Amino acid sequence: MSHIQLDDLRKRFGDVEAVRGIDLEIEKGEFLVLVGPSGCGKSTTLRMLAGLEDISEGELRIADERVNGVAPKNRNVAMVFQNYALYPHMTAAENMKFGMKSAGDYGDDEIERRLDRAADILDIPELMERKPGELSGGERQRVAIGRALVREPEVFLLDEPLSNLDAKLRVQMRAELLKLHQELQTTTVYVTHDQTEAMTLGDRVAVLDAGQLQQVAEPQELYDFPANRFVAEFIGNPAMNLVPVDVVEDGGEVRAEHEGFSVGLPDQAGLDDAVGQSAHFGIRPEDVSLAGNLPADAPTHEITVSVTEPLGESLLMHCDVGGDEIQVKAEPRAEIRPGDDIEVGFDEERLHLFDQSGDAVYHSTSATPKTSEAPLTE
Ligand SMILES: Nc1ncnc2c1ncn2[C@@H]1O[C@H](COP(=O)(O)OP(=O)(O)OP(=O)(O)O)[C@@H](O)[C@H]1O
Ligand SMILES: [Mg+2]
Repeated sequence: MSHIQLDDLRKRFGDVEAVRGIDLEIEKGEFLVLVGPSGCGKSTTLRMLAGLEDISEGELRIADERVNGVAPKNRNVAMVFQNYALYPHMTAAENMKFGMKSAGDYGDDEIERRLDRAADILDIPELMERKPGELSGGERQRVAIGRALVREPEVFLLDEPLSNLDAKLRVQMRAELLKLHQELQTTTVYVTHDQTEAMTLGDRVAVLDAGQLQQVAEPQELYDFPANRFVAEFIGNPAMNLVPVDVVEDGGEVRAEHEGFSVGLPDQAGLDDAVGQSAHFGIRPEDVSLAGNLPADAPTHEITVSVTEPLGESLLMHCDVGGDEIQVKAEPRAEIRPGDDIEVGFDEERLHLFDQSGDAVYHSTSATPKTSEAPLTE
């Protein structure tokens, strides 16, 4: 039995349909990340789970109980907001206790016990008497999480809780959230627009665009088997290269033909359907190699480097191939300058094709997708 079940969940604000029919089952103890661009309906979905937003249509079940009209305080969920929403005139301890006190269901001893435990877990006992104005962003963030922890809820809902922190602290808090989840095993729904955060935190990741789920899968699965162009471009940084090609059969071999290259496609599911069609060919910047790193007989293609960006751990190159731009990741100290013509090869286990509607029709990898939401099982 899944812990949280969304069944064709919809939300309309007047004429705007912010959430357009989401079906999703979240397992008990799972860390599910809801990711997508700004305005795609992430917060609205989370707020419906919390009970802060009415559900326009569809059904929401938590622990097998329909909770559509149930008030937030009766759902046994705790939410952490992006802006922390701490009371400025209260100390950290008072902020964390406030919800328990106003609920009136807890004795003083119980409140103190929970407060001490949450402060210990988050390593903030020494901050308890300070007010939010006397705390750093990261410390405020912990207090906000602490306020959710003391409720000892069945479900944590977190809305971009790290987005106000600087890059270094974000990475640190990410690891702490993972540790916390390993310890408590509380079912968690975590909203972010940051694909790195999604990939690193999620047991599974649900990708949302324009109020609709695009794909739900484990992180590596999303990366290896994107269901459509949106997911292919959203997951992974820099984004997957996509260029228009014709898929043709040539002497028993199927090839993707482009102005600037022609690539043989290993036989895998979906390939037959692609033959004779125009499609978008996808390859990630890290799956393109300089010819020097490839076996002598590997097929290569000539591309022209237009811009180089040293990233420290790699050299990112923007290149022209037959009038289209692709990005290529090379080793950091490669002696390559803008204007150079270079030979590259594509990793033949990492090729993707997307049809005119944007759906994935082919992935060249010989591995098989694990989840039922993967594109090739339809
Ligand atoms: N109270 C409201 N009234 C009208 N429209 C709203 C309201 N709340 C949200 N919307 C609209 O619903 C859509 C989804 O908003 P939502 O806040 O869920 O997006 P989001 O994915 O959380 O974006 P972000 O990453 O920017 O936080 C947006 O188009 C937004 O303008
Ligand atoms: Mg939001």
